[in-house]
Amino acid sequence: MAEAPQPVIVVPGPEALAETAARWVADTIKTAVAARSRCYLALAGGETPRACYETLSRPPFREEVPWSAVHVYWSDERLVPLDDPASNYAMARAALLEYVSIPRAQIHPAPVAERDGRAAAEAYARELMALLRDPAGRPRFDLILLGLGEDGHTASLFPGDAALNAEESWVLAVHVAKPPPNRITLTLPVINAARAILFLVQGAAKRSALQAVRRRDPRLPASHVQPVDGELRFIVDREALVEDPAAV
Ligand code: 6PG
Repeated sequence: MAEAPQPVIVVPGPEALAETAARWVADTIKTAVAARSRCYLALAGGETPRACYETLSRPPFREEVPWSAVHVYWSDERLVPLDDPASNYAMARAALLEYVSIPRAQIHPAPVAERDGRAAAEAYARELMALLRDPAGRPRFDLILLGLGEDGHTASLFPGDAALNAEESWVLAVHVAKPPPNRITLTLPVINAARAILFLVQGAAKRSALQAVRRRDPRLPASHVQPVDGELRFIVDREALVEDPAAV
């Protein structure tokens, strides 16, 4: 039976995407903190989320969100210095973390200084031990933000990569096609354990991948993001959405 396409919020363009995503993230954080006194948040890397993070760093979100109860991680990270322009941590720090009152001890950049990717992945998995668990014992994020690559990758889970088959590992080291190549990434078991997952997708270059993911084409890693017991949402701009009668 054909799967129903995932729920998609369509916005006119990049500015609306940033604003709509910021509102969705802020409300999700507030709901988590109201229910459990804290929010475990995994930020996406790449360029698309930057404007959303910048929006969250400004009024009303800077004042409205209970930032002191937020614990920040990354859904993936490039194994470059944390002050490298290619670092997902560096992007989020410049766009958001410098402007909101998240305690330093609650910001968890990937341990990129580890001797190699495997050590970094193992160290980051240990940091996830602090999270509350789902019934299967996996760390359960309240919200994981994800982007979408033109090839359907998400986080740093790329087509055909063995990391896609992980059943027990929480974080894996990968060598990928998109530079910089050496990264660590959350695995699908951890991503799918989340209470909420939000994809941000922008631009005509993502049309083909988005259409295939909405149909859950198994060849695309992002198609396998299917929360076990959580909400999945896409916020996309018109440029990224191709109207396909078969997909509605
Ligand atoms: C990364 C991201 C990656 C990104 C997509 C989309 O570290 O590169 O985690 O999965 O989200 O490649 O990137 P853009 O938002 O730059 O198009």
